[in-house]
Amino acid sequence: MLARLPERVSVYEVSPRDGLQNEAAPIPLEAKLRLVDALLDTGLSRIELTSFVSPRWVPQLADADELCGRVRRRAEVTFSALCPNAQGFERAKAAGLPEIAVFLSASESHNKKNTNKSIAQSLAAFEDVVPPALAEGMRVRAYVSTVWGCPYEGDVDPRAALDITQSLLSLGCYQVSLGDTIGVGTPRQTAAIVEMFLSEVAVDAIALHFHDTRGTALSNALVGLMLGVRDFDSSVAGLGGCPYAPGAAGNLATEDLVYMLHGMGIETGIDLPRLIDAGRVAEAVLGRKLPGKVHQAGLPRLRS
Ligand code: HMG
Ligand code: MG
Repeated sequence: MLARLPERVSVYEVSPRDGLQNEAAPIPLEAKLRLVDALLDTGLSRIELTSFVSPRWVPQLADADELCGRVRRRAEVTFSALCPNAQGFERAKAAGLPEIAVFLSASESHNKKNTNKSIAQSLAAFEDVVPPALAEGMRVRAYVSTVWGCPYEGDVDPRAALDITQSLLSLGCYQVSLGDTIGVGTPRQTAAIVEMFLSEVAVDAIALHFHDTRGTALSNALVGLMLGVRDFDSSVAGLGGCPYAPGAAGNLATEDLVYMLHGMGIETGIDLPRLIDAGRVAEAVLGRKLPGKVHQAGLPRLRS
């Protein structure tokens, strides 16, 4: 049953972006810098910093350019940011980011609400983002949201998500992160989706992005892991949500994911006590309790 478990997993930290994009109160830039600074000392090697989207659509991340200019850089940590269009790409290039992420949804209604475009229009817009970014030497990741369900349409055909994923990979994206944007997925469904994807794309070409709205994020991640997936998105202390997906709650908490992985003997390169410290910084930055389980409980005495 555990034969396909990977020896190592790559954790892609989304708290400064997915975590902060949905906050009701504006977070000062200095506070965001404190959060990123804490994350930089945990051993995380991939951090999604912000979004180069319209400041009218996501005012919480309107400081993206300044944030990228002021953030501490470490050679071993790759920063990325969301980019929906050519304007976003130009901003990311000016910010000197080595990686960007394009994004769209598997369901038309969510894509329209989130980006004011049809799926076909989003894919067309990415032709003005991905090839120019690759020509600049940047790497491009992609997200397909609402794969497990759409807040406006309900069930989503995973085949549609797979077709979109194939288009994104053909365009030159190195990896597509499949999102359970509203946290409706359950393990058997996750197995069916992941198995369908792995029948057509390489395992390293997909990542899994779970929101823990209904408490199923870690069990879904475990199913993906047991099917051999090696890339997971998560957010320290379980921060997160999508402003255009009503009811979307926090992401899978990075501490919970790492605790489970280390307990299973799977390497991440992350120092869990330092990650827990970073979660405390996140809590201080937001001034409220955050939902992550390990964040709340800490480490048991006999485990490290
Ligand atoms: P639009 O209004 O259709 O854009 O928005 P437009 O091209 O018509 O331009 C309108 C105005 O926006 C213009 O300004 C542009 O300059 C400006 P004006 O002339 O009116 O002053 N604009 C921009 N400004 C700065 N940077 C840009 C940019 N683009 C246009 N890049 C657009 C279309 C895509 C821009 C908008 O819908 C948008 O920004 N959407 C982003 C929404 C978002 O970030 N949602 C959350 C992220 S997705 C998510 O959370 C899911 C995920 O976590 C995975 C999962 O959980 O499943 C990734
Ligand atoms: Mg998300």
